[in-house]
Amino acid sequence: MSLYVGGATPDFTRFFQGRDARRIVAPTYPFEGKRYRKGGEPPSAPAADTSEVVRSLEGGDPQALTRLVEAGAGWSRTESDLFAQFAARIIERHQKSRASTHASLLHEVEWRARARAAAAAPPAPAGTWLLLADGGGVAESVARELERRGETAIVARPGPALSIAGRAWTFDPASAEHCGALVAALGRNDGSARARGIVDLLGLDFRTTAATTVATLAEDHERGLLSLLSLAQALPENDPAAPPLWIVTRGAASADAARHGMNVAAAALWGFGRAYALERPDKWGGLLDLDPAGDRAEAGPLVDELLSSDGEDQVAWRGHQRFVPRLVVATGVALAPVAVAPDRTYLVAGGFGQAGGRFVRRLVERGARHFVLVGRSGAATPAAQELLRSLKDAGVEVRAVAADVSDPEQMRRVEEALAQGPPLGGVVQAAGIARFERIAATRPEDFRAVLAAKVRGTWLLHELTKSRPVDLFVGFSSIASVWGSAGQVHSSAANRFQDAIAFARRHLGLAATTVSFSPWKGGSAPSEEFNRFMASLGVTPIDPAEGLPELEAALASGRAHVVLAKVEWSLFRSVMEARRRRPLFEELAVAAPSQHPEARPAVGDLRGELAAAPPAERAERLAAHLQDQLGELMGFGAERPDPQRGFIELGVDSLMAVTLRDRLQTSLGVELPVTFIFDHPTIEVLAEHLLANVLVLAKEARPAAPEVPAAPSSRDTLMNEARELSQDQLEQAIAQQLKDLGLH
Ligand SMILES: NC(=O)c1ccc[n+]([C@@H]2O[C@H](COP(=O)([O-])OP(=O)(O)OC[C@H]3O[C@@H](n4cnc5c(N)ncnc54)[C@H](OP(=O)(O)O)[C@@H]3O)[C@@H](O)[C@H]2O)c1
Repeated sequence: MSLYVGGATPDFTRFFQGRDARRIVAPTYPFEGKRYRKGGEPPSAPAADTSEVVRSLEGGDPQALTRLVEAGAGWSRTESDLFAQFAARIIERHQKSRASTHASLLHEVEWRARARAAAAAPPAPAGTWLLLADGGGVAESVARELERRGETAIVARPGPALSIAGRAWTFDPASAEHCGALVAALGRNDGSARARGIVDLLGLDFRTTAATTVATLAEDHERGLLSLLSLAQALPENDPAAPPLWIVTRGAASADAARHGMNVAAAALWGFGRAYALERPDKWGGLLDLDPAGDRAEAGPLVDELLSSDGEDQVAWRGHQRFVPRLVVATGVALAPVAVAPDRTYLVAGGFGQAGGRFVRRLVERGARHFVLVGRSGAATPAAQELLRSLKDAGVEVRAVAADVSDPEQMRRVEEALAQGPPLGGVVQAAGIARFERIAATRPEDFRAVLAAKVRGTWLLHELTKSRPVDLFVGFSSIASVWGSAGQVHSSAANRFQDAIAFARRHLGLAATTVSFSPWKGGSAPSEEFNRFMASLGVTPIDPAEGLPELEAALASGRAHVVLAKVEWSLFRSVMEARRRRPLFEELAVAAPSQHPEARPAVGDLRGELAAAPPAERAERLAAHLQDQLGELMGFGAERPDPQRGFIELGVDSLMAVTLRDRLQTSLGVELPVTFIFDHPTIEVLAEHLLANVLVLAKEARPAAPEVPAAPSSRDTLMNEARELSQDQLEQAIAQQLKDLGLH
């Protein structure tokens, strides 16, 4: 148990084997937190439990708890000592969870003032930069600064015709053909300097939120967001020479949004960038957000970031300070029911969908009695009919409107429906469509379709409530807006817009909270395969019984934006960071990196096999092993991946890389960094690196007889056994032990 106290996960089942320990009943009250719960049942309201065990826990008395258990178990002194330490840990956790926050799935992004640190990599040789120019002159000053530092800068200005000559080009950003031509021309640009980066500054011309209308949103996004898609599609995916993409905005990051508000149109570019960073981590530069107040001296700091990044890929300047985002657990959030009034109408866009319908039922439980539910197909589906029936049975008045929230004309029907009932009390924007396709396969029309409900729809709902103040304005967004989602540049962009609306509304003194969810159970996941993929990343579907109270807590928290996510951060981070550092996650406290679930011990002792092989053959054998493992992970069948082709070229993704790393850690008995696969270009190079720098093998082949390990101490044995149980298994085993000891 001291191992557990020290962070290990002991196998208590084995530990107690042959020790004549009895099983006891665990008290439910101290284990009301989900981690201590057996099975999947939601925690029931705590009963007034005054048993000795509860008193020991409440009173923080591990010794008393130990004495209770000891009396029933007949343990040795050592075992009792260990249990006392374990009990102290349970008590600490129990007390923490009761004292601080009840909402454990809620997170938020905080911005930290952070001066630039030392460059993360040695300076790259000078090269050519392509700047997609804004109309306000920032691109020109950045170009001058780049040239001053020995770089070559080409400024491409928007214009109707394509012109690629010298260092002043023109192109039509709305033309995919023109965007492609720029990228191609950059690749062959006079041959003297390699392309070092593309910096998109078109978003600087987006209208401010105050000047935004549904029409300007469409114009700005056609010009500055769909052009990003065209550029991204023109950039060769697996070409190591392809330059990274940078996006420059102004006031589009949520840093200090309470003071400055947010440029909602440009916020969508942040969503795009975050998803691009996940899909093409090796071709990602960063998101740079200039001070909304403007500052003449901004080219210098901007060029510092371009030329030598310190690893931060999202930076915002406010005043003279540089800020970077960090995802943290939202603290001080108490569970509280959402406040609704029975004499108000609640407008729920997407109210017939999974998430919207679920929330409607919750609002009814809290006392709401009048609804206008909107979906393009109205209440046409069986699920919608079932919802209507149950609401009617509960005495709730519902007006179902078939309307597209992105269409101002159709929104009139919504206005008419609203006019027929009590005044508007709140708006829930749960309308949206989910699509998954990689950048290369995303068509502009798919992109526009995803933007429709989330961008135009949310904007129209915002406008609708400008003249009718509401107490509740809820946006249902996605984690894709916060850290991106490979295969969802459009959704990330659309959802980030929705997040930004909440910041902008709060800045105007209007009610708003947008919640970015990870997937829910029974949600709109595209397939079982998707669910399995998410599970392999450490993302567990949220059970509504657990998620709805947290959603209500988020709304009561007074925050503009909250992330409601059920994620095993250690596993998630290891995958996210396999190809590049993700400072956003840096402050999330994580347990020791857990093994990826798909990782399993390789059959046989690879290290022993290599040691027994003649040194001249080792590299080949190790490379063959890597080929087998990777081939299996990538579904190569009888084929094996080419050991001389690049990992990225082969299509190795972060998840595969982490799984391969975990397998190698097991079979070689060494610790390997998360980024280790992508730190080496090919299987052959990786094998050579492992042999030369990681595995320390004798110069001569040694007999293949298995090594006889030193007799492990009982502590070692415990530690080894401990590692085999997950935290939940461990806690269940302990709970079971208490249960069997008959303690109530
Ligand atoms: N459920 C989850 O697991 C989950 C996870 C993360 C984020 N989210 C967020 O929650 C939102 C809702 O998710 P969901 O699972 O409830 O999706 P869903 O079941 O597909 O429901 C979406 C609803 O929106 C409606 N809709 C779509 N476009 C519309 C438009 N232009 N105008 C009016 N209605 C429109 C759809 O009805 P029609 O087709 O009839 O228009 C549908 O009823 C998502 O957009 C996403 O941002 C959900």
